[in-house]
Amino acid sequence: MGNILKKLGVGLAVGGVLVGIARSQAVPADFQVLFFVIALIGAIIFMLLDAQPIRTMSGGKSLVSVVAFGVLLITAGVAGPSLLPQFNPEDEKAKIGKLLEKERKQSAQGKADELIARVKALDAQVKALEDRLKGLGGVQAASTPPAGEKPPTAASASAGDFMKVGEEQWQLQECYNCHKLRGEGGKKRGPELDNIGTLLTVDEIQEKISNPKSFMAEGYEKEWQKGIMPNKFKDLMDPKEMQALAAWLGTFKNTSVNTPKPIKKN
Ligand code: HEC
Repeated sequence: MGNILKKLGVGLAVGGVLVGIARSQAVPADFQVLFFVIALIGAIIFMLLDAQPIRTMSGGKSLVSVVAFGVLLITAGVAGPSLLPQFNPEDEKAKIGKLLEKERKQSAQGKADELIARVKALDAQVKALEDRLKGLGGVQAASTPPAGEKPPTAASASAGDFMKVGEEQWQLQECYNCHKLRGEGGKKRGPELDNIGTLLTVDEIQEKISNPKSFMAEGYEKEWQKGIMPNKFKDLMDPKEMQALAAWLGTFKNTSVNTPKPIKKN
């Protein structure tokens, strides 16, 4: 009996030490319990080593004993672990899902706000254009075109409208994500473009947009990540729109802004 108590004591002590170490390493509580239980199982095995040998059995009795022992082992093996705290992957997945859901909602909200702001800005531009048309007496023609007369088309757009298309492309293609212009936008990914009109002709600007590798900003290797300007704009704009964007950028000739010199490549 004394021996059993001693082994139980050692088992508890070892279990305590294991739990202490696990805690200090921020191991999850479920595993701390598991370590403790393993220490106790160890103690029980050592206790069993002291047990009296059972009498030799034979015949039907030995068969029943073996089967009963097997059942006991299996029951203990199944029931024991199921008493332990359970780690349920579905619970964890649900928790992660909730966290992600929250973030998804927030970013969806952010995107929606941005879109709404952009729609408002475009709306204001349309209003301004309408007012100008009204000033020219053209709005009647636009809203109720007399029979036989076509409404105004892009072909009849004035130079001012052409520039508007360019500015609109700047917004739509989100060039401002990388480039600062008029003090707005740019996250230092690309150069400030306020003086680009002094450095490149409109045709050259267009070449740069449609093939970003055609010109590289001087010193780009050091200051801007090599070649991150995306090579996709010629697929996203039709030629007229790209021309308009280039023409509009060509009007920026603010020499007090330090736009780096573009160097012609291939
Ligand atoms: C992902 C970031 C990114 C986007 C988006 C981007 N650019 Fe750029 N752009 C750069 C970087 C970086 C450079 C400098 C290195 C180089 O020349 O490629 C650059 C250079 C330029 C230059 C030459 C500037 C100089 O001084 O040499 C022009 C012009 C230009 N971009 C126009 C545009 C226009 C117009 C758009 C939108 C249709 C646009 N960029 C979209 C990153 C971007």
